[in-house]
Amino acid sequence: MALGGAGTEGRVAVRDLVKRFGPVAAVDGVSLDVAAGEFVALLGPSGSGKTTILMAIAGFEFPTSGRVEIGGEDVTWAPPNKRNLGMVFQRYTLFPHMSVVENIAFPLKMRGIGRAEREAKAQAALATVRLEGYGARRPSQLSGGQQQRVALARAIVYRPRVLLMDEPLSALDKNLREEMQLEIKHLQQRIGVTVVFVTHDQTEAMTMADRVAVLDRGRLQQVGAPRDLYEAPATPFVAGFIGETNFLPGRAKAAAVAGAPVAVALDGGGEAVATAVGAVPAGVAVRVAVRPERVALSPPSADTLPGTIAEAIYAGVATTCIADIGGDRRLRARIAAGTGLVQWEPGARVGVGWRAEDARAFAAAP
Ligand SMILES: Nc1ncnc2c1ncn2[C@@H]1O[C@H](COP(=O)(O)OP(=O)(O)OP(=O)(O)O)[C@@H](O)[C@H]1O
Ligand SMILES: [Mg+2]
Repeated sequence: MALGGAGTEGRVAVRDLVKRFGPVAAVDGVSLDVAAGEFVALLGPSGSGKTTILMAIAGFEFPTSGRVEIGGEDVTWAPPNKRNLGMVFQRYTLFPHMSVVENIAFPLKMRGIGRAEREAKAQAALATVRLEGYGARRPSQLSGGQQQRVALARAIVYRPRVLLMDEPLSALDKNLREEMQLEIKHLQQRIGVTVVFVTHDQTEAMTMADRVAVLDRGRLQQVGAPRDLYEAPATPFVAGFIGETNFLPGRAKAAAVAGAPVAVALDGGGEAVATAVGAVPAGVAVRVAVRPERVALSPPSADTLPGTIAEAIYAGVATTCIADIGGDRRLRARIAAGTGLVQWEPGARVGVGWRAEDARAFAAAP
């Protein structure tokens, strides 16, 4: 079943979007392009502006300044019902007194579509979300995951060009949530609709989205494929928010251009190497960011930082070692199981190190 996402119809663009609520800039100059048929997640902590951006795309909030375009058309001031979007929210928003199939057919009824066609389309949408045979039930007779699938069927039944979802899975338990993440992703790929999906769960964003837009305090930090965000975070916020990161403050020993290795004299003693994220002037304050799985532990040597294992936390697939490197600094190193690597015990003296390409140096904002 091909729905309306293909071509340029399903493109979404947000341009220099600002939304103020009194003194608060909930959205502070965000620009974002979503291609037709693309799945983009808006990811950020609570209060970072995710819902406000989605509401501006939907037409439920009007921006203080900036523009919203759908299918190349400026819809900034168009009412929601003129935008041809589907929406699914966190809470189940089904009508309790209607059957499942009546719920799904409701948007078609609002559009003046006849009974037989409504029924056929609602049944097809029900099949799309794998709920054939549940049409006669009331929403209260369904599980949480089934209710969200009905909400999804209702949102796609009239073939919207864009589907907007705001934390649609957050009320579900972990297993069902993971199952639904893949189910929604596969459905989206099958029908080719453009999706803008709000979540504060980084694993969910990485699992589902083609690209993830990371927000902090109303500002866009970085937009990229999950792998790029993880491997090449553009800001310390992204490095800290996506996955786990060790941060070590220090000073650049020499200048480095973006992408070049830079030697850093660490606050608290010792020296480390990292890849410069932007241009790093000599002597400037930097933060070195390195992932726990990129930290290597070895017997002490001249070119590693001397440390002592404070804790070794066994978790089946990997063991996390916390190494004390003095000066009140602790680094996490993750050692995968079954790799034949040494499993260090608390109290062991170790050398801590990493390759320059596995760590990133962020110059402090001037
Ligand atoms: N109607 C409103 N009136 C005043 N302030 C608002 C309003 N809506 C949102 N805000 C503020 O704007 C900021 C962004 O809110 P928003 O709901 O977009 O965040 P969010 O990223 O969706 O957060 P969450 O993950 O908690 O849902 C917050 O500081 C919030 O308090
Ligand atoms: Mg929100």
